Order: sequence, then structure tokens, then C-alpha cells
Amino acid sequence: FVATTTNKPLQGKKLLLTAGPTREAIDPVRYISNHSSGKMGFALAQAAAEMGADVTLISGPVNLATPNNVQRINVESAQQMLDSVMDNVEGIDIFIGCAAVADYRFADAANEKIKKSADKMQLNLVKNPDILASVAALANKPFTVGFAAETSNVEGYAKGKLEHKKLDMIAANDVSVKGLGFNADNNALQVFWPNGSQALPVADKLVLARQLLALINQQMPN
Ligand code: CTP
Ligand code: CA
Repeated sequence: FVATTTNKPLQGKKLLLTAGPTREAIDPVRYISNHSSGKMGFALAQAAAEMGADVTLISGPVNLATPNNVQRINVESAQQMLDSVMDNVEGIDIFIGCAAVADYRFADAANEKIKKSADKMQLNLVKNPDILASVAALANKPFTVGFAAETSNVEGYAKGKLEHKKLDMIAANDVSVKGLGFNADNNALQVFWPNGSQALPVADKLVLARQLLALINQQMPN
């Protein structure tokens, strides 16, 4: 038996990806997060493994089974996700940032449960590090692919992120469309790279994952 490259186009490639939401602690019993289900990232991990890649999936808290032949690392906060990505990025050929990383965390998360007292309270937030931009800034960077969740001006914002984060490709989705994107089984993507684009119409996330990986394989240097 001789393995062909036709059905395993990512054989020999090492892929690292992030998926799911992050949780930013307010105190030991509370956090802020978002509605990301992790489905798109897990579909990408499954599809990449099926295409022969060596896959490491760094996931925030989600309710999904680990796909076959995927090495999974669980994290909670954005800072933990960044640390785990940096610990695992060496030798990686493709990085996909699919996680819905919280943009802000609490400036001073409390060690003890916060008791209620005043009628109003304020929480101070500070910006989280940008994991995707940090990978794209590495000297020996992998082919770096981002996602963009937008509710308007999808193409404009996505192209802006492609450029200022110095990405090789970005997959944008309009999260204002009901039944698509966040928490849904289906999605639709507009994919942009520095000199091209491709629309991937509404489909099951696993189907889209295969199409996006085929595009990545086509656009990345050998
Ligand atoms: N991302 C990341 N680290 C962050 C924020 C975002 O790695 N701290 C990644 C996401 O995984 C995604 C991409 O950046 O691949 C775009 O995320 P998105 O939330 O759409 O864009 P932001 O750059 O955070 O800008 P904004 O939320 O203001 O649109
Ligand atoms: Ca964001």
C-alpha cells in the first residue's frame, strides 16, 4: 500500500488552532465570556486531521468531543490561551485563530467572591493580548489564518484585520445573520488573502472547514 497525497493533502503538515470562547474571571465564581460554541474550530480540527495533518487544538471551555487524532489542550482565559499557543507554535506550518477571544479581562480579578453592597458597581477592564497578531508577528511565522466575526461592513473590516494583523488569510462571517455563525451548525464565509478572495456559501461547518483547508493548502507556499 502506498499512501497517496490525493486524499491526504495535508500529510506532513503541522497545524495549530484555537477554538471556542475564553472566560475572564471576575472573582472565583463569576466570569465574562461570549456565545462561541467552538463548533467551527472543532470542525476545522477534524477536517485537518482527516486530511492528514498533525493537529493541536487549543480550546476554551466548550461542550464538544475531541475529534479523532487531534491533540487537545484546554484553557480558560485569553492569557492562558496565548501562553499555550506560544508553547506549541514552534515547527507549526499552519496556525488558525478560530477562538472568540475575549477582547478585555478584569484589571483586578478578586480572589474572594465579591459581596453585593451598593446599588451600582463598576468593573474595570483592560485589553487582552491579541493571540493571532502575536503569532503573525513571529520571525518564523506559520501560514497564519484568522477569523473575523462582524455584524456589518464584513469585507471592509475583514480586509482591515488581514492587513493590520499581517495575516496570510482571513475568513469572515456575518454574525448578524440568524442561524449562522455563533452557536449554529451552519456558517457562510468570505475568505480574503492579500491578492484574492473566495465566497464559501452557507453549508455545514464541517463542509466549510474542508473547503477552507483546501484554500489554505492552495495558497500556502509548499
Ligand atoms: N483574536 C485573537 N486574540 C484576541 C482577539 C482576537 O487571537 N485577543 C483573533 C480571533 O481568534 C480571530 C481574529 O483575531 O481570528 C479576529 O477576531 P475579531 O474579534 O473578529 O477581531 P478583533 O481584532 O478582536 O477586533 P473587533 O472585536 O474590534 O472587531
Ligand atoms: Ca474581538
